[in-house]
Amino acid sequence: MSKYITTPIYYVNGEAHIGHAYTTFIADTMARYERLKGNDTYFLTGTDEHGQKIEESAQKAGKPTQEFADEISGTFKALWDEFEISYDKFIRTTDEDHKRGVQKAFEVMYAKGDIYKDFYEGHYCVSCETFFPETQLEDGEFCPDCGRTTSIIKEESYFFRLSKYEDRLLAHYADNPDFILPRSRANEVINFVKGGLRDLSVTRTSFKWGVKMPESLHDDKHVMYVWLDALLNYITALGYGKDDANMHYWPASTHFVGKDILRFHAIYWPAFLMSLDMPLPEHIGAHGWWTRDGEKMSKSKGNVISPKEVADAYGAENLRYFMLREVPFGQDGDFSQRAFIDRINSELSNDLGNLLNRIIGMSGKYSDFEIDSVDVEKYHAKELDAMNEALGNLDGFMENMQTHRYLEELWKLFTIGNVAITSYEPWAKMKEGKKDEALATVALVANILAKAAIMLHPVMPKTTNTIADALNFKINNDSYKDLVLGKNLLKLFNIKKVPPLFPRVEEPLIEEAPKAMPDEKPNDKMKEELSAKKEEDNLIEIGQFFETSLKIGTVVEAEEVPKSKKLLKLQVDLGEETPRQVVAGIKEFYSAESLIHTQVCVVANLKPAKLMGMMSEGMLLAAKDEDGLCLVRPEKPKKAGTPIG
Ligand code: MSP
Repeated sequence: MSKYITTPIYYVNGEAHIGHAYTTFIADTMARYERLKGNDTYFLTGTDEHGQKIEESAQKAGKPTQEFADEISGTFKALWDEFEISYDKFIRTTDEDHKRGVQKAFEVMYAKGDIYKDFYEGHYCVSCETFFPETQLEDGEFCPDCGRTTSIIKEESYFFRLSKYEDRLLAHYADNPDFILPRSRANEVINFVKGGLRDLSVTRTSFKWGVKMPESLHDDKHVMYVWLDALLNYITALGYGKDDANMHYWPASTHFVGKDILRFHAIYWPAFLMSLDMPLPEHIGAHGWWTRDGEKMSKSKGNVISPKEVADAYGAENLRYFMLREVPFGQDGDFSQRAFIDRINSELSNDLGNLLNRIIGMSGKYSDFEIDSVDVEKYHAKELDAMNEALGNLDGFMENMQTHRYLEELWKLFTIGNVAITSYEPWAKMKEGKKDEALATVALVANILAKAAIMLHPVMPKTTNTIADALNFKINNDSYKDLVLGKNLLKLFNIKKVPPLFPRVEEPLIEEAPKAMPDEKPNDKMKEELSAKKEEDNLIEIGQFFETSLKIGTVVEAEEVPKSKKLLKLQVDLGEETPRQVVAGIKEFYSAESLIHTQVCVVANLKPAKLMGMMSEGMLLAAKDEDGLCLVRPEKPKKAGTPIG
């Protein structure tokens, strides 16, 4: 079976951040997983280099556009190479082959009558490279997606008959419920299409930095719209318009994208493909957005986190593990060093790393590093069954992109191994003269580690190769078929010592992000960033709302935080054994005494955070306008701990 997996192609107007790294990690993991299963897999990534936005960024940097694009594209490629991303092709939209492919696609659509020439007058957002009808603008001027000012442009344009494909698109969504994953994201797309599709302007005359029109049209005033150019990368990379060399990989299995660009992939792209009479991709997998310590990352806040900086400090594979384990696919995720360190220490170092070390140590002591699986079934049938059950569940999780569930299930194997050691106590068995039993437990764990290493390989390729090296086997499709699918055990071998795989981390290794105080006034730049956040303002499911635990609390103690203009330290009774400490930025609006014995509304399941060195274990709900801040309180007294919702 062949598989084709893609990342979005990244704009070259700035360097990669962890959001980009996440899309790339998840796609790379999926590609490696398919290869492990023996599927012939093609994995594509690259850079998106045309359009007014790139042209303007180059001008700001004082560089010729191509040189600027070369540089930034180079930084993406170098980063993915450093992270050993297993792409088969790194495409650039400035590649000649790609440009030819785009021109060919344009000619095909034009010949079919799906592209026609007309005039366009509309409000254009340069940042989103999109026209918006007046009715959609905020305050008649601002872009509904990013909040930036739009400009009125009237220009001759070629249009793609998007409206013609409305019904076929809706039918496709209905017939293929897994076309958009997670399924919960499909509704926003379907509603958008049901709302009516307008034909799409697919050329521009207002700037030059784009793919030129096909010569056959004799119209070199125009360049292609950047999204038409960019989306076509998924087929030009396979040789469309050139030699079709790799077109047998089409249709794509999964295009991984962030939720902000789902619409382009789930509406425009399928319509273009329908026009080209080509089959549609199997899945569009839309993931959520990453924040840092709960805040949107932005240059002006100075809290953008570079994947290279994190990887240099903590290890690139640890970062991959963390990102894929931390967040259910499709939901937003938060990067915090605390959460990252906790997972490294407890899951990687304790559960996995120590297990390997203990097995190496014990086999050295008891059997001169020899591992023999001969008695494992006799003494550990129960553990083998539990292990095989967990292994059998893994494929379903990965095929649904639920990497967090996949890893959670995989970790059951280490629990089985660790529990086996503590409950069977091989050292005691050795003392009792039951050497075969002791060695059976050691061999059981060695087998668990081997099978787990195979299944962890797509997520942590290098680390698992080291484990496999210690266990004297190679991770590949053969060992997958033998040890995982075939449920066989390792043959007699000598285990090798390896240096500890996951040194414990005691404290944050990179500088913490500057934290905005809760009531800090945003400056203009921040306001701009905040309104850019609007693109995330998708409607939520009721379940998402209930992920936040809101409770009524009674303030039992309150004091001022010395040297702080803004903070009060409160002890809030939430009906639990002891009151929670909540540090709140409300000192300018409330005195400490006035709060005692009053009730407040508390977000009760926030990860604890430190504010001026004090732990804060919750957040108060408050509303603030030009007249100041007020706390949100229950209308009548309620028992402490009463849930809100
Ligand atoms: N060039 C287009 C994609 C064209 S694909 C034919 C583009 N590029 S981008 O560089 O702006 O974004 C690339 C991907 O990074 C998108 O999937 C986007 O969702 C993702 N992310 C950008 N910031 C992100 C976070 N903070 N968190 C998670 N992913 C985010 O869009």
